[in-house]
Amino acid sequence: MEGAQEGLAIRGDGLVLREWTEDDLPAMVELFDEPGVAYRTPLASPFDLVAARAYLDRARSTRADGTRIQLAVTEDGATPLGEVLLGSLGAERPAGAVTLGYAIGAAHRGRRLAARATRLLTEYAHTTLGLDRIRLQIEPDNAASVAVARAAGYRRRADVPPTRGSQKGRTYLLEVWEHTAG
Ligand SMILES: CC(C)(COP(=O)(O)OP(=O)(O)OC[C@H]1O[C@@H](n2cnc3c(N)ncnc32)[C@H](O)[C@@H]1OP(=O)(O)O)[C@@H](O)C(=O)NCCC(=O)NCCS
Repeated sequence: MEGAQEGLAIRGDGLVLREWTEDDLPAMVELFDEPGVAYRTPLASPFDLVAARAYLDRARSTRADGTRIQLAVTEDGATPLGEVLLGSLGAERPAGAVTLGYAIGAAHRGRRLAARATRLLTEYAHTTLGLDRIRLQIEPDNAASVAVARAAGYRRRADVPPTRGSQKGRTYLLEVWEHTAG
């Protein structure tokens, strides 16, 4: 996949989205070992250095096999403030199955980092990757995430049934939000 070896970086709107590196492991712990991330995402909890190592290894292998792109959200190209990702990539996936996800460190929320990063990566997915539909999967009571979806120009697909998920001892419903090219 384009950029996999050199290290993909997407720039715009005051942000640099770039690939995670070894040096980021302590920062990942700081960002992701947090109740909101634990509750709303599939990330390990507690998210310690061992979890960060496993997360980076998985990011690299799924990047290499073309199924995921996980990028650190930064303003300066260096300090990670959160993550934005594209998952379910790959030719064998049905159209419409490409999903985008995001998490921002608690200390950095409320600065439109998620909305800006989502816009940037969505634009990249449409233009560079040529994907027509990008989807978000959001619990209806996750007000922050719903607001990010709206701010990034996504619309809820009321006609698509929510998917039921289960993790960390709870079950939940995920509504589908979508952004289409053009
Ligand atoms: C959801 C999350 C990524 C938002 O990150 P963020 O960088 O603070 O969001 P932004 O600053 O880009 O905010 C975008 C919009 O959401 C609104 N918003 C942010 N937090 C909000 C909250 N807690 N309640 C209501 N609206 C909120 C902002 O006001 C802004 O709205 P605007 O465009 O009308 O100004 C962050 O709260 C997070 O990481 N949560 C835990 C993980 C998670 O829920 N991930 C998503 C799973 S689907």
